[in-house]
Amino acid sequence: MTAFDATKLLSARTSAVEEAAIIRMAQKARDLKTKGHDVVSLTLGEPDFDTPAFIQAAATQAMAQGFTHYAPVQGVPELRAALSEKLARENGLHYSAEEIAISNGAKQAITNAVYALIDEGDEVILLSPFWVAYEGIVRMAGGVPVQLHAGADEGFKVPASRIAAAITPKTKLIMLNSPNNPTGAVFTKAELEAIAAVVAQHPRLMLLSDEIYEYILFEGEMTSFGSLPGMRERTITINGFSKAYAMTGWRLGYAAAPLPVAKAMAKVQSTFTAGANAFVQRAAIAALKEGQADATAMRESYRKRRDLIIGALKAIPGVRIENPPGTFYAFPDVSAFLGKRAGNHTLGTVDELCDWLLDTHGLACVPGSAFGDPNCLRLSFASSQADIIKGTDRLARALIDLI
Ligand SMILES: Cc1ncc(COP(=O)(O)O)c(C=O)c1O
Repeated sequence: MTAFDATKLLSARTSAVEEAAIIRMAQKARDLKTKGHDVVSLTLGEPDFDTPAFIQAAATQAMAQGFTHYAPVQGVPELRAALSEKLARENGLHYSAEEIAISNGAKQAITNAVYALIDEGDEVILLSPFWVAYEGIVRMAGGVPVQLHAGADEGFKVPASRIAAAITPKTKLIMLNSPNNPTGAVFTKAELEAIAAVVAQHPRLMLLSDEIYEYILFEGEMTSFGSLPGMRERTITINGFSKAYAMTGWRLGYAAAPLPVAKAMAKVQSTFTAGANAFVQRAAIAALKEGQADATAMRESYRKRRDLIIGALKAIPGVRIENPPGTFYAFPDVSAFLGKRAGNHTLGTVDELCDWLLDTHGLACVPGSAFGDPNCLRLSFASSQADIIKGTDRLARALIDLI
């Protein structure tokens, strides 16, 4: 009898999805730290702030008041109403509370949207560089990711003409993220209007607008795609509490979408999980009401860190980077160093460069290839100033060593 091998039982669906490089690098950094190595990790998009105390207090109070039971799958009505108001006031998005669906993090909202729309073989356009999770979610749902790329020379923003050229009868969804993880790029209103004109020409097409970094914006203006003329019915807007209010561990996100899509998303969620945590939803109402000052203070702190990290990166000969207008990621082009030698071996790819930086210089960052750009590295500056200084110092010293 042959020995039992559980790996042979894994579904093709799970095997088609690779382990995210971010998780791999973060785990490798943690393992090295546990073994006593001195490691600076600029891998995760995780604010180093604690959740503001008044939000924590609101959650504790909600628990004491008995909000410890199952919540409605689509979310508690008061939170949906508060979000409906927020979206109208700040984003020019007009969705009723019925058209808003609360989820266990924005990631689940994205998953709900993809599963609600995508059938086997449907094409989904990903504007690369993009957040790694998009590709895995699309693949697991049976969709076909179609990557369109824009490099540093285009400000990392795929123009509407290239999107128009990639649309086929099978294209059902475009996924757009502005401000963007990993590049920090922000699409202007004019750029979004050009994309809206393309969407308007295709009646079978919707656009998912991931706006999770809307408050981490240093320059320029935030335009919500669904606020553009004719786009309300064609857009699924994704947002959440993780980044704006330093609430990553609380797992709360939301989506606004035309009613049939919002209902289908809730159906997907009720199939896989249930309503988001009841007392966290209460705390989120408090965050929406009173959290603006904290969100602004955190953004200003990220601005200082951005200036610090970008200044340090620009000072390294061969590294190319512009000021990212949003998010807390720096995405320098390090292609000048690829193919160079470190001791006996050649660092042919940005993945090899990242592993070498961690193994020999104690700096953990994420290869741009994980986001669709093999020329860049992603460094998160949601970390302390001390780590930013140490990390960029290590990078400078490491790169100077390459010949
Ligand atoms: C672009 C983007 N969208 C969504 C998310 C997920 O956010 P949440 O923590 O709400 O699931 C992230 C998290 O890193 C992200 O970078």
